[in-house]
Amino acid sequence: MKKTIALLPGDGIGPEVTRAAAAVFRECAHEFHHQFDFVEMPVGGAAIDAARTPLPKETLDACNKANAIFLGAVGGSKWDSLPVGKRPESGLLALRQGIGAHVNVRPVKLLEPLRSISPLKPERLGNLDIEIVRELAGGIYFGERGHGIEHGKERAWDTESYSTAEIERIATFAFARAESRSRRLCSVDKANVLSSSQLWRKTVTSLAHVYPATKLEHMYVDNAAMQLVLRPSQFDVMLTSNMFGDILSDAAAALAGSIGLIPSASFGTGTPLFEPIHGSAPTLAGKDAANPVGAILSASMMLRDAFGLNLEADWVEQSVTRVLQNGYRTPDIAEPGGKTVGTTAFLEHLHEEMQRTLEHAERYGWGV
Ligand code: NAD
Ligand code: IPM
Ligand code: MN
Repeated sequence: MKKTIALLPGDGIGPEVTRAAAAVFRECAHEFHHQFDFVEMPVGGAAIDAARTPLPKETLDACNKANAIFLGAVGGSKWDSLPVGKRPESGLLALRQGIGAHVNVRPVKLLEPLRSISPLKPERLGNLDIEIVRELAGGIYFGERGHGIEHGKERAWDTESYSTAEIERIATFAFARAESRSRRLCSVDKANVLSSSQLWRKTVTSLAHVYPATKLEHMYVDNAAMQLVLRPSQFDVMLTSNMFGDILSDAAAALAGSIGLIPSASFGTGTPLFEPIHGSAPTLAGKDAANPVGAILSASMMLRDAFGLNLEADWVEQSVTRVLQNGYRTPDIAEPGGKTVGTTAFLEHLHEEMQRTLEHAERYGWGV
């Protein structure tokens, strides 16, 4: 298989975790005889510094031409005083918009060796395996906004707005995901207060008859935040607006042990995009302390969901689990008395485990 992958490292720990993903792609290409060609492009703060804009046209063009995009993370205090629209984060939003990505899937799944580091007691944690389906191209992120002076004082506003078509598009995806899993779909909204949420609930409800095998439930976002922390195993697929999904996915990530563990995939009309859900973690940047697992699992999502390389994705995921089983942990998931390692050492252990997993699979078959 021959594919072009656009690599957008971005800022802070973004380049460190992108290197980790690239190493996995390279090893995959080598062992399974694929050809992955990489095009590395600036985005976010790095692009502001290099080209005075957080998403240069060349970067978007390269992304549109590629078969898939991997993004590290963007943002940092250096650019925090810039206005909305000119910040590194605007580059990421413009990229999502530019490639027409309206679906964002964030799987939050317990990796069994990490059960004891979850902040939840084992009996509460249960079998944590949630898929958050987040609308990515609309809502308050892309609604009308403004900033002005009223009676001599500043006023600023952002608008949450959804059309029936936008809700149908994301809800259809979420129902289909639920059908392929445990057939439970929880749609999250704030329909007791927001007009956009009332349309959201009505539209999601109107699709339920197409998926009679899936149990649809509606939950207000404040309750959903609480239920996530109280009894996360009640959830299978959670369907959310752009902003609610952003917030709930960070909370859910903590249940799995660290935000550094969680991958994501975005789909729409153009090139699919894969990125860990964490940010640029400025205090960790350059310290060889970033957890690369979220990035590596984003890479395996690309192999599986963009390229259909299921075996290769299984290989990566099994190897990650084995490294954790062997006790190696980056500082964010360290346990007292455990083997705490940096990003680089973690990757070396992953490389060894990938080799061992291959030999084992060649001898006994996959998943044995
Ligand atoms: P963050 O996700 O960068 O960090 C939150 C906390 O999690 C910090 O304690 C950080 O050290 C830790 N953390 C994050 N990723 C980690 C990893 N891989 N390994 C270990 N620990 C990790 O969020 P923040 O601090 O709110 O934001 C920092 C910057 O990142 C801001 O500029 C923000 O806008 C940006 N951001 C970007 C993205 C993205 O590019 N997708 C996502 C979120 C935030
Ligand atoms: C995320 C991030 C982004 C978002 C920011 C950086 C634009 O928080 O991917 O979760 O809010 O979507
Ligand atoms: Mn976020």
